[in-house]
Amino acid sequence: MVKDAKDRDYQSHQERELPIYVPEVLIFETPDEVDAYAASRVIRQITTHPASSLTVPTGNTPTGMYERLVAANSNGEVDFSQATFINLDEYYPISPDHPSSYTEYMKRNFTGRVKVGEWHIPNGAAPDPESEARRYADLLAQRQPIDLAVIGIGPGTTCHIGFNEKGSSIDSGVRYAPLASETQAVNAQLFDDPAEIPAGTLTQGIADILGARQILLLAKGPSKAWGINRTLKGLISSDAPASFLRHHPRVTFALDKESARYIR
Ligand code: PGA
Repeated sequence: MVKDAKDRDYQSHQERELPIYVPEVLIFETPDEVDAYAASRVIRQITTHPASSLTVPTGNTPTGMYERLVAANSNGEVDFSQATFINLDEYYPISPDHPSSYTEYMKRNFTGRVKVGEWHIPNGAAPDPESEARRYADLLAQRQPIDLAVIGIGPGTTCHIGFNEKGSSIDSGVRYAPLASETQAVNAQLFDDPAEIPAGTLTQGIADILGARQILLLAKGPSKAWGINRTLKGLISSDAPASFLRHHPRVTFALDKESARYIR
């Protein structure tokens, strides 16, 4: 019998007998409380281990977390100057100084406003995406272990983490990955001219994210509700890349009420 890709993928995990865990799920009344919790986790990590390495996200969801981290830094509560921040992804191709690049996002929201030890993000203008992916994979390998990966989840039915769209393997590493059309439609709204959205990305893979000691997934708003339920309650498969997080023993989902409303 010929199995389709989804079955094959699922079966290969079963054959390897990866353990399945029940993630910690925290549901907050408001999006602000998600931000406060996310910031508190990062601050706790860095105050207890100042030279920590963190994987960090971009997008609408974490702006409130970054705002709080900048405030905590300016009031002396936390010092990021020994910590390493490694972004999940960047569009490709894109000029790093394009206003909608994730490089600019990071400068505007965080790294341009605090002193950090190290900060890394893929170069969206590298001439060859494959060699840029290799460079970023090497850089990530040299900064292991990642103490905490803070991530978002894609909108609608995408269930992406980083830009690991449907079909991504649990073993995937840093690579060039095309944007799913559903993601493209949503993210195009973040470009002055929606037609300018790049066709692809350079992203950490699922295996990179699962390699972190702890993972914190943030979700807010109704556009995440279907995906959160699918991720937590559906089949673990590459059809919902975020579902692979259930193979990691230390994952927290920090959700607002809206994004949690379909959890069965
Ligand atoms: P968002 O993006 O925070 O802008 O919703 C999250 C993601 O696509 O992973």
